[in-house]
Amino acid sequence: MQNPTGRFITFEGGEGVGKSTNIQALAEYLRSIGKTVIVTREPGGTPIAEKIRNDLLKAHHEEPMAPMAELLLMFAARAQHVDAVIRPALERGDWVLCDRFTDSTIAYQGYGRGLSLSTIEQLKTMAQGDFSPDHTILLDAPASVGMTRARARGEELNEETDRFETEEMAFFERAREGFLALARSESRFHIVDASQSLDDVTKQVLALFEIEGNI
Ligand SMILES: Nc1ncnc2c1ncn2[C@@H]1O[C@H](COP(=O)(O)OP(=O)(O)OP(=O)(O)O)[C@@H](O)[C@H]1O
Ligand SMILES: [Mg+2]
Repeated sequence: MQNPTGRFITFEGGEGVGKSTNIQALAEYLRSIGKTVIVTREPGGTPIAEKIRNDLLKAHHEEPMAPMAELLLMFAARAQHVDAVIRPALERGDWVLCDRFTDSTIAYQGYGRGLSLSTIEQLKTMAQGDFSPDHTILLDAPASVGMTRARARGEELNEETDRFETEEMAFFERAREGFLALARSESRFHIVDASQSLDDVTKQVLALFEIEGNI
């Protein structure tokens, strides 16, 4: 275990699979058993990184963003987030629940956009060294399932579409394959079938943490 007192838990998966909803449920559960919990997100999580998020996700730039610029901005935001928020919280003994992290960069910019995985790996080492989540919950569902949910939520809450949501379905299917490939190669992953009902998904997420010693 990398972090002897606090735990660093990341939630990963495609658009609309239920990351934000389930992260809140887990935070509530952990608080109910006395943990101090910070919920944060990527890109973002600090004032500087939230500014970068705005540039990364805003739908209407005057020019297309070069894939390498997008990749570097993701890691710039992450370096700030790890340094200013995540590491200090873990050092205090808090639990940190993070909505997306480096696996999303590998899935979206690597598998989705086709940027070199070894370049991403090099940048990862520069930005975060060997710092890595203790556990990663991968909410897995066909891209179309998540996208339908995200669009329904967007209409209900009148959200602006972000730069990624306008990508074609094949992009999100490649990203899903990327997440699954990562999950097969590292033991910190726990895959939950996110195409189930929200109730069932949340039960399975919480079950990972409810049995003492599970996580
Ligand atoms: N298992 C589920 N079944 C049905 N609806 C769900 C399920 N999980 C989440 N939802 C609903 O789908 C929508 C998307 O969920 P949520 O915002 O948690 O996903 P997300 O992964 O955070 O999305 P994004 O990638 O856009 O941030 C919400 O309206 C949520 O209530
Ligand atoms: Mg979300």
